[in-house]
Amino acid sequence: MFTLNDKVAIVTGSGSEKGIGRTIALTLAEQGASIVVADMNPAGIWDTVEAITENGGKAIGVEVNVTNKESVDQMVAKTLEAFGRIDILVNNAGISQKVTVEDMTLEDMTRVFNVNMFGLFLCTQAVLATMKKQQYGRIISLSSVSAKRGGGVFGGAHYSASKAAVLGFSKNLAREVGQDGITVNCVAPGLVNTDIWKSLPEEDAKKVIDSIPMARPGETREIAATIAFLASQEASYITGEEIDINGGSHMD
Ligand SMILES: NC(=O)c1ccc[n+]([C@@H]2O[C@H](COP(=O)([O-])OP(=O)(O)OC[C@H]3O[C@@H](n4cnc5c(N)ncnc54)[C@H](O)[C@@H]3O)[C@@H](O)[C@H]2O)c1
Repeated sequence: MFTLNDKVAIVTGSGSEKGIGRTIALTLAEQGASIVVADMNPAGIWDTVEAITENGGKAIGVEVNVTNKESVDQMVAKTLEAFGRIDILVNNAGISQKVTVEDMTLEDMTRVFNVNMFGLFLCTQAVLATMKKQQYGRIISLSSVSAKRGGGVFGGAHYSASKAAVLGFSKNLAREVGQDGITVNCVAPGLVNTDIWKSLPEEDAKKVIDSIPMARPGETREIAATIAFLASQEASYITGEEIDINGGSHMD
């Protein structure tokens, strides 16, 4: 129905082998976008770039630490040098940790916020001038069901808080840039069928599955498909929104 031909997308955290980011990068490329595969894992970056180009798509790899402003600015500069524009930013890079509040250190809290919220801020801020100049942009950020439900299977309260911060930040920004042709949205996945899910003991996995109306984890392509839609021209009047992709495990 829609195409991303001639669009340029940066996908952070797209170097993870079984992660959501790689599938997002592949999906946007299939729709015609040129992709910047941005991650701090060099081997993973090149695997994703190879997978896209083998599929007939266009991609470059950029090593980035989203928590470092200089590194993020370089990512944006390399994108503009290679493709001349930035239409789509997918803030996907994220980290998690299972720990109770009682046992959590300030360092734990800082580490998680540094990537999930402050890194997202740096990447978002770094693309705004270009998107404003173009009077076009799509910013899509990964929140999580745990932001709304109060915890998930794999994250602590710092993870939930960081993903809730992403929602508030995105809504505020959506108001700031609405008149510049830039939309800002989030997706909030529930449990997704990635490596971390596969590592769960069978008994625990069964308990989780029993709590999901659709009785299965989501697939990375199901997250990527929603993001591809939000990234499209056709989603032009959706902003400040957050889409739950969780098999019914949390309903607003
Ligand atoms: N997997 C799930 O069930 C699930 C559910 C809800 C939300 N999410 C969110 O989706 C996103 C992707 O999750 P995933 O399971 O694919 O994770 P993942 O761990 O497989 O991939 C995350 C990627 O981010 C990269 N990364 C981490 N810190 C970085 C930094 N400082 N700079 C650059 N890159 C960095 C890693 O190298 C990795 O490639 C995350 O934001 C996560 O919080 C995941």
